[in-house]
Amino acid sequence: MMSSNNRDIVADTLLKLENTVFLNREVLRPDYIPESLPHREEQIRQLTSVLAPLLKGERPSNVFIYGLTGTGKTAVVKYVLRRLEEYGRGFGSRGFFSCYINCRNDDTTYRVMASLVETLGGRVPFTGLSTAEVFRRFKNRLESLGRVMIIVLDEIDSLVSRAGDELLYRLTRVNDELSRSKVSVIGITNDVKFMEKLDPRVKSSLSEVELVFPPYDAIQLSDILRERAAKAFKPGVLDEGVIEYCASVAAKEHGDARRALDLLRVAGEIAERLGDRVVKVEHVVKAREEIERDMVIDVVKTLPQHSKLVLLAIALAGGRFDSTGDLYVSYRELVKALGSEPVTQRRVSDIVSELEMLGLVTAKVVNRGRYGKTRQISLATDYNTMVKALSDDARIASLVKNYRGR
Ligand SMILES: Nc1ncnc2c1ncn2[C@@H]1O[C@H](COP(=O)(O)OP(=O)(O)OP(=O)(O)O)[C@@H](O)[C@H]1O
Ligand SMILES: [Mg+2]
Repeated sequence: MMSSNNRDIVADTLLKLENTVFLNREVLRPDYIPESLPHREEQIRQLTSVLAPLLKGERPSNVFIYGLTGTGKTAVVKYVLRRLEEYGRGFGSRGFFSCYINCRNDDTTYRVMASLVETLGGRVPFTGLSTAEVFRRFKNRLESLGRVMIIVLDEIDSLVSRAGDELLYRLTRVNDELSRSKVSVIGITNDVKFMEKLDPRVKSSLSEVELVFPPYDAIQLSDILRERAAKAFKPGVLDEGVIEYCASVAAKEHGDARRALDLLRVAGEIAERLGDRVVKVEHVVKAREEIERDMVIDVVKTLPQHSKLVLLAIALAGGRFDSTGDLYVSYRELVKALGSEPVTQRRVSDIVSELEMLGLVTAKVVNRGRYGKTRQISLATDYNTMVKALSDDARIASLVKNYRGR
């Protein structure tokens, strides 16, 4: 038997865990496909008309979709395909196959080909076959099924940068080798430079039709958030201005709907954690800090050791150096303390530029008259966040500890 005291703990804990603000938090997650996608009517219309031949068993044009991150590319493509499948079933049409592949997860030719075969009900061992063999299996299966297959290659730039464009070349040519079936490709990317990397022949066949997804402005983001919020939150828990604030922050960061939704979700989580029954602007402010901190931690984790040491030198100096030379002196001390070999000052200067591109530091060129030009280097995030992120690395953590001990 549980003592009554323990029962109270259980009851208390459950009560605290009970959602205070959310009806359904999942609605705010990035992979949730909403019932309606405001401000994407034009893209939905265009994509639907391009893909409409599918319902008659005919091959649609290949489509290339470009737009910055969080502009609804993945959501729109999944949404339209899902609706077309529903329609197809309703009309009793011949049906088509569709295969959605996120090339960031499946970034080898082999993996992509294997997914295609699996969509058609075939099986491919995890390794062992030649890609030519997997491709042959794909063709044979599709041909024996005699349907059109639409292949979505999302984040297609990951595939091409890892594996080259050979698969794209084959996929855009495969129709010449098929008689009873056909293939269409939808390629999606947020990489502006992607097209330049392609072989011109692949480029022209991939972009039979091109769709561009422009970034959302603050008003559009507000509309998007409002629809999602109505399902995600209990009625009346969003304080005035919360949606608009999330939208304006995300609009400044190139109109990214994912960012706006994340802000709103995390703000709700913070309110809940604090036991508040209303989500307020101050929760969004906290959410923004939390998200930024997580992003910094993620980026810093993946940096090479010397880049981390450069960041640490700047952090320990109070967040700023007035010249690369001063930074170099401190960096060298840290390297020595670790018993490693320093890289050259030239290299440190390049590292600073790399860190600047990642948004971790800002570097301002200052003219010091006859002393020439120098770079003023500052941390772009606060000291605690940076030291916490760096301390993920055990050797650096021990350096920090020694430094503080001094
Ligand atoms: N018009 C919209 N209405 C409702 N939600 C939207 C809309 N546009 C985007 N979203 C939501 O924003 C998030 C990001 O959208 P999505 O994943 O489609 O972006 P993306 O363009 O594919 O970005 P990336 O290039 O980073 O893959 C998703 O949760 C999506 O549901
Ligand atoms: Mg996407």
